[in-house]
Amino acid sequence: MKRIAVFTSGGDSPGMNACIRAVTRSGLAMGLEVFGIRSGYEGMIEGDIYPLEKNAVSNIIQLGGTILQTARSKEFHTVEGRKKAYQNLRKHQIEGVVAIGGDGTFRGAHVFMQEYPDIAFVGTPGTIDNDLFGTDFTIGFDTAINTAMNAIDNIKDTANAHNRLFFVEVMGRDAGFIALNTAIATGAEAVLLPETTTDLGKLIEQLENNYRNKKRASIVVVSEGDEAGGAFKIADHVKEKCPQFDIKVAILGHIQRGGRPSCSERVLASRLGLEAVRALVAGKKSVMVGEVNKEIVFTPFDHAAKKHQEINPVLIEMVDLLA
Ligand code: F6P
Repeated sequence: MKRIAVFTSGGDSPGMNACIRAVTRSGLAMGLEVFGIRSGYEGMIEGDIYPLEKNAVSNIIQLGGTILQTARSKEFHTVEGRKKAYQNLRKHQIEGVVAIGGDGTFRGAHVFMQEYPDIAFVGTPGTIDNDLFGTDFTIGFDTAINTAMNAIDNIKDTANAHNRLFFVEVMGRDAGFIALNTAIATGAEAVLLPETTTDLGKLIEQLENNYRNKKRASIVVVSEGDEAGGAFKIADHVKEKCPQFDIKVAILGHIQRGGRPSCSERVLASRLGLEAVRALVAGKKSVMVGEVNKEIVFTPFDHAAKKHQEINPVLIEMVDLLA
């Protein structure tokens, strides 16, 4: 293998830049030529592909976002789109590609590799959601939960000052890892997750009980993917049933996606970037490189994207127990 490329795709996550840097620097150190593809699959389709030298990735390890930019490409879902992408990769004589992204990225790479097996794709898990199978942690998760935790800590100050009940919505379209971890870390009264059936009656009972016991400031962390609806809808329902509560809603939104990556994020992203290049050189393809129990693990793209680790029920129980 002489020439490889790297791209980021789907929602950006803190640590993606550290991973781009590791892919570039380790590729160059192994004697490969390294190219960057801008804006994910969109750039592949448009041929937005350029050489990355050592200095191109200087001073980016500490930055959130992605210097390669990212996109959710609709055209890559089409046969024609993937054909254009293939032709552009061939034109640049790219033999191996590192895809940094989440489930959508790997589903796309899986389809592409079935059609064009002569270009090897290897992935690293880049998403704040932690919703991929084959890695204990995805690149971006640690930073995102710390960002959300700090935000909820601030909300707690004002909730206590006013005796208010806050519904705080955190990201996680299909998975509640961010919600569960931040709920435990902030001592929230309750957490609503997509993985469990939300019983609003039971939640109201618990909140009313707290109210009677003079505990009037409460935090309920709502995962955006919870089936009972978003934080506003749930808050409206509770307000209707419990007019005595002073209720506020905070949607943390995209602040969770940005910011400087934490130390462990940078280490994970660097290690996975290096191992992805090693995997390409060793002839591996169509796999995501993850870290499980500190060991490097390769998981086929379709498995990594289809499933994710189970939410630990002990942690869910802990939220109730410690509230
Ligand atoms: O996939 C990561 C994620 O941050 C989800 O938690 C969230 O639902 C989604 O991306 C938001 O994506 P966008 O920024 O494209 O609206």
